Amino acid sequence: MHADFLVIDINELATPTGTGTCRGHAMDAVNVIDDAVIAIVGDRIAWVGERTEWTGTAQAEIDAAGSAVIPALVDPHTHAVWGGDRLEDFEARSRGASYQEILARGGGIRSTVEATEFDDAGWLAELAEERLDLLISSGAGTIEVKSGYGFSHEGEITSLEAIRILAEQSPATVLATLLIHVPPRDPAERDEYVEMVARGLIAETARRKLASAVDVFVEREAFSVAEARIIFSAARDAGLRVKAHVDQFHAIGGLELAIEFNALSVDHLEASGAAQIAALAASDTVGVLLPGVTLHLGIPAAPGRALIDAGAAVAVGTDLNPGSSPLFSTQLAMALAVRLNRLTVCEALTAATANAAAALGLRDTGRLAPGQRADFIISDGPDWRDLVYTLGGAPVERLFLGGKELTF
Ligand code: NIG
Ligand code: FE
Repeated sequence: MHADFLVIDINELATPTGTGTCRGHAMDAVNVIDDAVIAIVGDRIAWVGERTEWTGTAQAEIDAAGSAVIPALVDPHTHAVWGGDRLEDFEARSRGASYQEILARGGGIRSTVEATEFDDAGWLAELAEERLDLLISSGAGTIEVKSGYGFSHEGEITSLEAIRILAEQSPATVLATLLIHVPPRDPAERDEYVEMVARGLIAETARRKLASAVDVFVEREAFSVAEARIIFSAARDAGLRVKAHVDQFHAIGGLELAIEFNALSVDHLEASGAAQIAALAASDTVGVLLPGVTLHLGIPAAPGRALIDAGAAVAVGTDLNPGSSPLFSTQLAMALAVRLNRLTVCEALTAATANAAAALGLRDTGRLAPGQRADFIISDGPDWRDLVYTLGGAPVERLFLGGKELTF
């Protein structure tokens, strides 16, 4: 084999094993190869293994200088497109107000909608680009970005157009999701809003290929199961995949509904109980943990340990957003999944790579194996576990995406 380049002097390389979604205890089966090399051809990995077993030739060499290598991280859940800020909410919460009280009195997500809905796509993309750059410098090579602060048909389309600009300009792979996030304040307008989403907004999104999935915030203060069912039916009819924010504060049936629609993922799960854990474990849907929300809002942690023990596939993401998770590091989200959701170090790696890719319907990133995109991290030390251990440092030394090194 003749490679374009060979990554040499890797002290150890760590990667999830198998293919596709990794379930239950298989998440803990990380393959660690000592004294490894990786051969790259074009934007793909051509060969991975022990240095002594490599028999090919290479045009060039990249020296990892005795450091560890893992797959680039995948952030399967962000709300990186927003205007304004939520510093007033933050201060009010520091004085005892709850997230739900603030939302119920017209603040929270609604105040971000006011600061986002009428901005233009170029400006929103500029704001979001800086945020994505921080996620990338923490090791993310693939990032999902949701709309959801646009509210009206025009506002949501503008947010999706901003995500399209990001996808064109960012060195990361950016995937867009249409998020139906808050209902109108006037209950009398809810039916009309759901109708607008199901008929007009989803159709335009699908026709212009502005998103690959539709997400709904199913919660007492947001959309009911009946409303989400109408939206998910429209998404399915339009050929879009389904994702859902469920069980964040109350388990009202959103998880069960999303599974019925063969959702790619159900995200949050802080209030999921035994019935939801069993339902998720029996499905093909990935459960996405968002420990930044537990940290920032002080709500219970999602039952990551119990989900994996029950055989579910679990992923982790930042949920980067101004209200519930101002967490600008995908690496830190992975690290927090060990501390807050009780994953093992190996499970956290699988959750932030192979399973985060599965939560986006992607199969060609998240592992170091032949045929995968050449998306990988060279860490700043010899032991790969440092990348899961570190809180607040910068353990990512170098990042390669599609075989090209990024500078940051
Ligand atoms: O994922 N829960 C709903 N949506 C976001 C929060 C959005 C906001 O507070 O602005 C979340 O936590
Ligand atoms: Fe979210």
